[in-house]
Amino acid sequence: MGPWPNDPLGPQARTSAEIYWIMFVAAIVVLAIVDGGLIYAGIKFRDRPGHSAKQFHGHNTLELLWTVIPTIMVISFSVLSFQKLNVMNDTSGAGMTVDVQGQQWTWVMNYPKEDRFKLTDGTYLQGAQELHIPVNMKVHIQLSSKDVIHSFWVPNIGGKKDAVPGRHTDLWIQADKPGMYKGQCFEFCGTGHADMLITLVVQTPDEYTTWIKGALAEANRLSDPATKAGRETFLSQPCVGCHTVQGTTAGGKVGPDLTHVASKKSIAGGVISPVDEANLTRWIKDPPAAKPGTTMPNYHLSDEQVHDIVQWLLTLK
Ligand code: CUA
Repeated sequence: MGPWPNDPLGPQARTSAEIYWIMFVAAIVVLAIVDGGLIYAGIKFRDRPGHSAKQFHGHNTLELLWTVIPTIMVISFSVLSFQKLNVMNDTSGAGMTVDVQGQQWTWVMNYPKEDRFKLTDGTYLQGAQELHIPVNMKVHIQLSSKDVIHSFWVPNIGGKKDAVPGRHTDLWIQADKPGMYKGQCFEFCGTGHADMLITLVVQTPDEYTTWIKGALAEANRLSDPATKAGRETFLSQPCVGCHTVQGTTAGGKVGPDLTHVASKKSIAGGVISPVDEANLTRWIKDPPAAKPGTTMPNYHLSDEQVHDIVQWLLTLK
């Protein structure tokens, strides 16, 4: 996959690429004419032995030309940009709508409230960081933010748009071919900004149906009522900004992936072992005390919160 202007892989990116290349070529032509004229005139008409430089003031034809031509160019580019913007902002006719929320420092994908995405507890499928869509389908992305301004951008698919707190913004994406496309938060949003990635997974309709089944089964396992308290505490705390638990909205990339933490031999970079209730409790209660110098802060969770979280983590095998 090349840089997006050379390798647009969906109609949205193609629309951006078209206007990019038109403006780029126009800028090169203007640069060549202006600098070419400057260099030519500087050499040809310069003051030198046997030729004295002519002094003159004003030149109606030239002045008219370099006023009218740029005006026509600027107006043409404006009209062209607005035309393309209309296409890029037109979310009508989308096959599905995914509600995507940015938060420090992950993206939470809320799939449509349709029966095929429904969990046994009555909620609907969510994901973090990874967005699955069917190939060749126009997908409406409804963007919002939980904290600061983020920006959703998958370069080769196109359609960069800011996620702004307190309001919704809309964009649509569509991919020509199945595959994995890398995206990145495009608005500096704090220390985890560089790790605020987007993985767009584009699948054939059959693969998509299979993926939904698997994701639902996994989400249903994770939403077991017995560990609900711990799960909800974990997901509502800053934990999710750093840690990933696949199948949940926790998609942080700064800290270790906790999807199978209960099956690990140790935590805290090997310092704490085995991974059992006592050690997890000691660790979450006060990480810097358990491992001096750790980047995981003490969030001063109550004993009950720590207990609930530990009970849930112990089920992540
Ligand atoms: Cu979110 Cu940068």
